[in-house]
Amino acid sequence: MTTTTSRIPVTKAVVPAAGLGTRFLPATKATPKEMLPVVDKPAIQYVVEEASAAGLSDILMVTGRNKRALEDHFDRAYELEELLVRKGDEDRLRRVRESVELANMHYVRQGDPKGLGHAVSVAEQHVAGQPFAVLLGDDLIDPRDPLLARMIEVQQELGGSVVALMEVDPSQIHLYGCAAVKANGFGEDVFQVTDLVEKPEPGEAPSNYAVIGRYVLDPLVFDVLRETPPGRGGEIQLTDALRELTTRDAEAGGQVHGVLFKGRRYDTGDRADYLRAIVRLAAEREDLGPEFRSWLREFVGSELQD
Ligand code: G1P
Repeated sequence: MTTTTSRIPVTKAVVPAAGLGTRFLPATKATPKEMLPVVDKPAIQYVVEEASAAGLSDILMVTGRNKRALEDHFDRAYELEELLVRKGDEDRLRRVRESVELANMHYVRQGDPKGLGHAVSVAEQHVAGQPFAVLLGDDLIDPRDPLLARMIEVQQELGGSVVALMEVDPSQIHLYGCAAVKANGFGEDVFQVTDLVEKPEPGEAPSNYAVIGRYVLDPLVFDVLRETPPGRGGEIQLTDALRELTTRDAEAGGQVHGVLFKGRRYDTGDRADYLRAIVRLAAEREDLGPEFRSWLREFVGSELQD
């Protein structure tokens, strides 16, 4: 029998975090966009928590210049911890240590920022021939709507690579990778992906299924990325490599499946959606929620009357 990589368990996650965050200038002039707080945790911590909750304890962050704050955030902060110990502030101490205990963190620099496909390709050596997850920091998936665990399950059953899909309004599809799909008889939420287009021009989208920032990839993607020419925006696009994978033999690690996500997702790379994420997550928090909700009710009732 031919061995495929589908039975090798998924234990590693790659988190591309080299982007400049120009949409949030000037906040991101000297601070990585991944460190912007969503309530009281940096956006990137939600992503690492999500990977950890899905059982991925080995995380490789692909960073670039001016991203040292990311490494510090997932490392011990001895002086601060000592101070909190001396004060007996157990609660804050726990919160400071939380990010360190989530996973084994590793870092590699992307060098030239040549696109998402290129960022993933620099993970090749670390991933070492196993299927692996990719989580994009701009997409925040509500922890109550687990997606990654389902994607890993599908990858383990079907092999190949798996993308997360979400139905969007057709007017928005040009902002995403777009997938053409057909049924494959593996549950209502799982499809065979037959084609992919990165940020299609209006009228050229094959569907309104958007690829959102979660992937479980067969290591065959690295061979394909090496051959992938620059695509949209002159960048090496992961979507283009995935499109090529749809044509490759399943026995060799080819084929792409889509898991349809119907839960809550926030695009923290977009200012309006970032604000929505903060308001929603703060309103639902046990500690901050009650007071914040009552203020919000009053604010909406008085300030926002037309
Ligand atoms: C990237 C991908 C795109 C995907 C999107 C999801 O685009 O290239 O295919 O739909 O993430 O958030 P970006 O938003 O980084 O331009």
